[in-house]
Amino acid sequence: MSDLKKIKEEFLLKLKKKLNLSEINQIKSDLFGKNGQVSSQFKKIGTLAESERKKFASDLNIIKDELQSLINSKMDEIQSAEINEKLEKEKIDITLPERPFVKGKIHPVSQTIDEISSIFSEIGFSVEEGPDVENEYNNFTALNTPDNHPARDMHDTFYLDEKKEKLLRTHTSPVQIRTMLKSKPPFKIIAPGRTYRSDSDQTHSPMFHQVEGLYIDKDINMGHLKGCLNYFIKEFFEVDKIKMRFRPSHFPFTEPSAEVDIGYKIKDGRIIIGEGDKWLEILGCGMVHPNVLKNVKVNPSKFQGYAFGIGIDRLAMLKYGINDLRSFFDCDYRWLNHYGFDPLDVPTNYRGLSR
Ligand code: PHE
Repeated sequence: MSDLKKIKEEFLLKLKKKLNLSEINQIKSDLFGKNGQVSSQFKKIGTLAESERKKFASDLNIIKDELQSLINSKMDEIQSAEINEKLEKEKIDITLPERPFVKGKIHPVSQTIDEISSIFSEIGFSVEEGPDVENEYNNFTALNTPDNHPARDMHDTFYLDEKKEKLLRTHTSPVQIRTMLKSKPPFKIIAPGRTYRSDSDQTHSPMFHQVEGLYIDKDINMGHLKGCLNYFIKEFFEVDKIKMRFRPSHFPFTEPSAEVDIGYKIKDGRIIIGEGDKWLEILGCGMVHPNVLKNVKVNPSKFQGYAFGIGIDRLAMLKYGINDLRSFFDCDYRWLNHYGFDPLDVPTNYRGLSR
């Protein structure tokens, strides 16, 4: 038998076995690789006598084409078999009944933070964050609250070291400082998060939540502040009409300063927002004090604006009819199951916030 025939027959024999991709690749390189069987035959052509050369070369080319096309179709066949096998293995029977499982709930405070972020992002505020463990400078000094200022005592601060340099932030206002230090005006941010004061009774918890707001630009005035808060309260409580009052107040980091109350009444044991003659304080606000701007290297003769700090837990209590602040932090699963929200029900302004 001629060499060529032998090569072909051996090859056909090998091809009959069940092969995987790497085996067929091996066969391919045994034939057509640098020193492969077919490649070596080509090298032989030059050594043959003139009379045999032409026929041999033509036979060789025919066999080469034949083997190559057999290899290619075998490869296709193996590849599609492998894909089919994989598909078969990874098949999921979606007709199977689901395993019963207990679904978690979103805490009303988390839900409220999501709602607040959604409302403010609609009007161009971005969300910032700051750490719970703050330094004394960001929490007080930079906010125009120097040592011995009476406002420091009012905050019932948890200090974390003897020198009173580290503390648990008593409000979210230090995020104003962090935000302004790290870039250039204009600033338009909100900063929700945990805050801490050493205070605990029916309406106070040592850990509570606030959302800070800060808008600094060239022509921002108190009218903008009122408009913004008015918009926010209406959106948050999903009502067209609200009663809101600004009371003069004092914060070292704003001038003038105000506290804001919203009007409500209780009817059949339920809170109704926007009617009645009862008032509930929900936030502090004001125009950012020039000293604060100077502390963060913002020129107060060019830039000014407002800031506010809203008590998140109180808003959540009002909106969802929860009357004991402490229950928020009891970790009672039955409570969470009742007041919590479906994790898939992400609040947006379009779909409605609380549905
Ligand atoms: N940080 C103040 C507080 O916790 C609230 C506030 C924020 C007031 C921003 C004015 C401006 O009481």
